[in-house]
Parts: sequence; C-alpha cells; structure tokens
Amino acid sequence: MKTIQVKLAKRSYKAICGFGVIKNLAREIKRLNLGSSAYIITFSKIKNRYGKHLVKSLKGSGINYTFKVVADSERSKSLQSCFRILQHLARFDKNKKVFIIAFGGGVIGDLSGFIASAYKRGIPYIQVPTTLLACVDSSIGGKTGVDLNLGKNLVGAFYQPRLVISELSFLNSLSRRQVRAGFAEIIKYAVIKDKLMFKYLEANHAKVLGLDKQALGYIVNRCVRIKAEIIQQDEREEKGIRTILNFGHTLGHAIETAGGYQKYNHGEAIALGMILASRISKKLKLINQDTYLRIVNLIKLSGLPVQIKGLSLKKILAAQYRDKKFIGSVNRFVLIKDIGRTIIKRNIPLGIIKDTLGIPSSL
Ligand SMILES: NC(=O)c1ccc[n+]([C@@H]2O[C@H](COP(=O)([O-])OP(=O)(O)OC[C@H]3O[C@@H](n4cnc5c(N)ncnc54)[C@H](O)[C@@H]3O)[C@@H](O)[C@H]2O)c1
Ligand SMILES: [Zn+2]
Repeated sequence: MKTIQVKLAKRSYKAICGFGVIKNLAREIKRLNLGSSAYIITFSKIKNRYGKHLVKSLKGSGINYTFKVVADSERSKSLQSCFRILQHLARFDKNKKVFIIAFGGGVIGDLSGFIASAYKRGIPYIQVPTTLLACVDSSIGGKTGVDLNLGKNLVGAFYQPRLVISELSFLNSLSRRQVRAGFAEIIKYAVIKDKLMFKYLEANHAKVLGLDKQALGYIVNRCVRIKAEIIQQDEREEKGIRTILNFGHTLGHAIETAGGYQKYNHGEAIALGMILASRISKKLKLINQDTYLRIVNLIKLSGLPVQIKGLSLKKILAAQYRDKKFIGSVNRFVLIKDIGRTIIKRNIPLGIIKDTLGIPSSL
C-alpha cells in the first residue's frame, strides 16, 4: 500500500493506492469526519461486481449508504443526469450528514465531483476509481464537470475530493480496451515528465497492460505522484503548469467529440492526439524523427490506435475550434522538446494543423 499526500493547504488529501486498500475506507471516512450517510454514485456493472466490497468496508462503522446507479455512458456526464441525481440526493439527504462516493471510472468521478461541488454549495466526496484511467489520472486533481453537446467538460468546477482510494484489484475485470485507454494517460505522464518511466514502459508495456501486480503498483503510484506535484503548483490551471496535463488533449478531445464519444473512447482519442501533438512538435523542429517514432511505437505496441479512421477530418477541425483550449480563436498546444520536456505554443497556424491531420490546405 502506498499513500501519496496531495498537498493543497486546506484542501489537502490522501491518495491511497494498492491491493486490498479498500478495507481502509470506513476508517478514513471517520478520521476525516465526512458524515454519516454515503451517497454512492456508480454504474450497475460496478455495483454488481464490487458493491459488496464497498459495503463490507462500511459495515459496523455506523455509516449508512445508498447506491445511485446511472447509465453506463459518457452521456451520463450531462446536466440532465445531474438534475435527476440532485433531486434524488436531496430526498436521501433528509436529516442526514451526507457525503458522496464516486465509485467508478472517469465518467462517474467527473459527474459525482461536480454534483458534490454544487449540492448545498459543496459537500465532501471521495473517489474510489475502478478504471486504470481513473486511478492514474481523473480521480486526482479536482477537475469535475459534465459535457454539453458542443463539447466535453464545458460545465464544471475545480473541487477536490477529500480522499482517493484506488483498489487495484478492481481493475482485473476491465476489458483489454479499457486497460489500453488508461495506458494512454500513462504514456502521457511519461512523455510530459518522466523519460525514465518512458523507458520502463518501452521495456515493460506488456506487464503493465497485463496488470502485473508489481508493474501496475509502480506505474499507478508514479503517475499519481507526478499529477500531485503538478497540481500542487497550479491547482486551478492559472499558471500554465497544469496545462501540460493536456498533452494530446487539444486534438484528442476534438476526435472524441467528433466521434460522438463512441467511435473512440477518451484514452484512444488521447493516443491519437498525442501522435498529432508529437507530429506538430516535429514539424516545428522541436523534436527529431527518432523521438517522434519512439512515441508512435509505444502507442502502437500497446494496441492503441495510431491512425484516425472513419471520422471526417473536417468535423474534427470544427470540434477543435470549440474546445476550451482555444481562447477566442487563438489556439494553444502542449508540445514537446524531448521525452519528459514540454513547451506550450500558442497560435499554431491552421495550415500546420490541417497538414498534421492530413486535410488539404484548400479545404
Ligand atoms: N477529471 C479529470 O482530470 C479527467 C482526466 C482524464 C479523463 N477524464 C474523464 O474521464 C472519462 C473517461 O474515464 P474512463 O475511461 O474511466 O471511462 P468510464 O468511466 O466510462 O469507464 C469506462 C468503462 O469501463 C467500465 N468499468 C469501470 N470500472 C470497471 C471495472 N472495474 N471492471 C470492468 N469494467 C469497468 C465502465 O462500466 C465503462 O463502460 C472521460 O469523461 C474523461 O473526460 C477526466
Ligand atoms: Zn485525459
């Protein structure tokens, strides 16, 4: 078991990660005095498979609970589902001291965190991530929110969890595709901050993707530590430090949106976005061909997509210009100078973006 302290003054919290760590849940809730009633937001698949573990860990603690099951889809990250959940939560909350447990992947985490931020102007919430992506990335850092038809995460708040408990044995039931999606964010951490980890992944990608206990424990902890260090310096993305976590996300989000959140999942879209951002870095002569190929190869080796298929490139471009990372019409890309070193560039000419996507400049 590893505990990483996310140090954010009054909003500091522990991220506990390992095998068998879920049994600490009730003790930590009591220590933090979060409340007497847990409102657990989840997908039915997760409730059916792992709900009993969560319930067992609350048993005898005097904490009562209810499950709120939402549809298993990115579409649940919507204002419509917020409305329904808030109504239900308000009914459950009568005469209780309620807190939320986000029990699932990034969709559940983002949605639950946002509801926690808004209900009664903020109630405590805990992240119990169940996907690799959520363990290494979305459960940490307090970015919460929901999507609009016009784009992802357009409505949201910075709202930190009070605790993160990543029970790595929950990951065993993930599909290969979901494991790969988490692996995309792992590659992101290596590319933006840790050349040694990148080398480790080149040699050990099969172990990590096979959820080997030791490799998984090492990588999840490493990513959480990197993320904690970044957000500790720039919690609300005001200083341009946290921005580097968006490597691959500018075009990645556009690909995800253009595909209706179905064609490519978040991790797959981000893998494609990282290739495109690396290609732009190469075009601007920030990196050489070798570095570019190392990144593409690692993505390929892990079984993630390396080429956009079945999507209109023009649709991607249109989605991109609605992204939050485009301030007015000025675009902003996280690019790389080397593996482990980033640089933020604004105003990348449209011609370069089109060229990178393979769209003729006349279109
Ligand atoms: N807040 C942040 O900082 C941040 C960072 C990265 C991504 N995100 C968001 O996270 C979302 C993607 O997260 P995700 O990939 O975890 O998606 P997800 O929450 O949709 O989960 C993916 C799938 O895995 C299934 N699943 C979850 N846990 C399982 C388990 N233990 N065993 C078997 N199946 C399981 C789910 O039912 C779902 O079908 C996106 O909405 C993205 O925008 C947020
Ligand atoms: Zn992401």
